[in-house]
Amino acid sequence: MTTVKTLRELRAAIAQARAEGKQIGLVPTMGNLHAGHVSLVEIAAQRADFVVASIFVNPLQFGAGEDLDKYPRTLAADQEKLLAAGCHLLFHPDVAEIYPHGMGDQTRVSVPGVSEGLCGASRPGHFEGVATVVTKLFNMVQPDLAVFGEKDYQQLAVIRALVQDLNMPIQIIGASTQRAEDGLALSSRNGYLNAEQRALAPMLYRGLQAIAEELRRGARDYQRLIGQAQAQQKDAGFQPDYLEIRNAVNLRPAQVDDRHLVILTAAHLGSTRLIDNLVVELPGQ
Ligand code: PAF
Repeated sequence: MTTVKTLRELRAAIAQARAEGKQIGLVPTMGNLHAGHVSLVEIAAQRADFVVASIFVNPLQFGAGEDLDKYPRTLAADQEKLLAAGCHLLFHPDVAEIYPHGMGDQTRVSVPGVSEGLCGASRPGHFEGVATVVTKLFNMVQPDLAVFGEKDYQQLAVIRALVQDLNMPIQIIGASTQRAEDGLALSSRNGYLNAEQRALAPMLYRGLQAIAEELRRGARDYQRLIGQAQAQQKDAGFQPDYLEIRNAVNLRPAQVDDRHLVILTAAHLGSTRLIDNLVVELPGQ
């Protein structure tokens, strides 16, 4: 695996892979890689001949007071994991390589509809930052396919919408969430939790499972289900941000006759913000 830092080097390596007739797969990341990221690279390696990963902690998607400065930078360990997972080329640019004219004058990409509500409401500007950097990475790498985790369900919906709306010939693959044995979704932010918080954290997923179970049994009183689960989050020591049941395809608020649902939540444990989601497929009527 080769690591490059500049767009010139990136383009040269990709031109060579293209000249060899290779299909290119991209896995954008912010580093501090865990088994969830490794699974994305493995999927890319199964579907493409030449796998490019990027590690770039994108300042444009962090709000004031978020964890941009403390976001862990673990390049050497990340390189080992990427190599073992089948990555061929790592793009690890500096901020100036991605935003040479600064971020103030940067053209932005905003995706209406799916960016609104949920994390879009709690983190204003976040999805514009994500959509902008992902568009730039897509233009830099010009991959045939790109793999993103379903753990960031709304982000995946934003990226699917932007590729469709801007007619980008890139196949977007969603990869299922990787979980610890106790159910906690793997996330780079889990490392911020102390031992007590880490023991509590799996409750977030258990709450989603409990709602899913009731939905499968026929419950459609969404507000009651949400109220119950948020009360449990609070009792356990979380500060709930949102908990919602949405249509899994278009992310609109769920209607009683929707069959493809997703339950999405975000909650704080101390200063750490955790997110999770669970898709529920109900049998047709
Ligand atoms: O999911 C992430 O790690 C980031 O939001 C992404 C897609 C790499 C864009 O910076």
